Amino acid sequence: MIFAANFKTNHTRKSTAEYIRALNDKIESSPTEHRVFVFPPATALDSYETTATIGAQNAYPAQNGAFTGEIGVEQLEEFGIDTILIGHSERRELLGESQEAVAKKFAFFKEAGFEIIYCIGEPLEVRDQGDEAVVEYLLAQFEGIDTSYGKLIVAYEPIWAIGTGRSATVAEIESTHKALRATLPATPILYGGSVKPANIVEILSIENVDGVLVGSASLDIESFYEMVASV
Ligand code: PGA
Repeated sequence: MIFAANFKTNHTRKSTAEYIRALNDKIESSPTEHRVFVFPPATALDSYETTATIGAQNAYPAQNGAFTGEIGVEQLEEFGIDTILIGHSERRELLGESQEAVAKKFAFFKEAGFEIIYCIGEPLEVRDQGDEAVVEYLLAQFEGIDTSYGKLIVAYEPIWAIGTGRSATVAEIESTHKALRATLPATPILYGGSVKPANIVEILSIENVDGVLVGSASLDIESFYEMVASV
């Protein structure tokens, strides 16, 4: 299973270092065969000594250059970071990242050999139209994306379930992941959206769910590791 912690705009450099120290202690005292990823904010990226994979929440598709406010591969290479989240709904919605921009970013980081957690997810008005509309919407988010890329992990995160406390139902997750599996026969598919210790066991028991991408409930290491240790 894969457990990925997405800090978003939470935690500082100092608290991230403390978090990773605590995570290392937990991995040492209660070893896990699961893969653990942590995505801190850009200011907290560093060469951490840990068996967890540290990734970037975002970067500009360039080695370096004149892209004010952005970081590129050069800034990630400094810390040996070669894992990135692409296509998160918050970036698509709040920062206006179009499918075209997301696909361009994907192609660049694929070319650079990064492991990519690629996020897809539908808004509530699409979910309300039923399963078929949801699948159609999600498949459109693969436009321009090489779904056969070997270092790809897909995260299905219904937008209405993110940060709302309301996760998708077992039936919704099951049918969506089943439909995605047809397009992604060999790619791990994560679920994300209000995953927490109270629902982790149920969610991970769903067929075609290979792990979770966790926001709010990952911010506290006790809560995050409780989930890692739960299966
Ligand atoms: P959440 O966020 O766990 O707070 O719902 C998930 C995500 O956006 O990755």
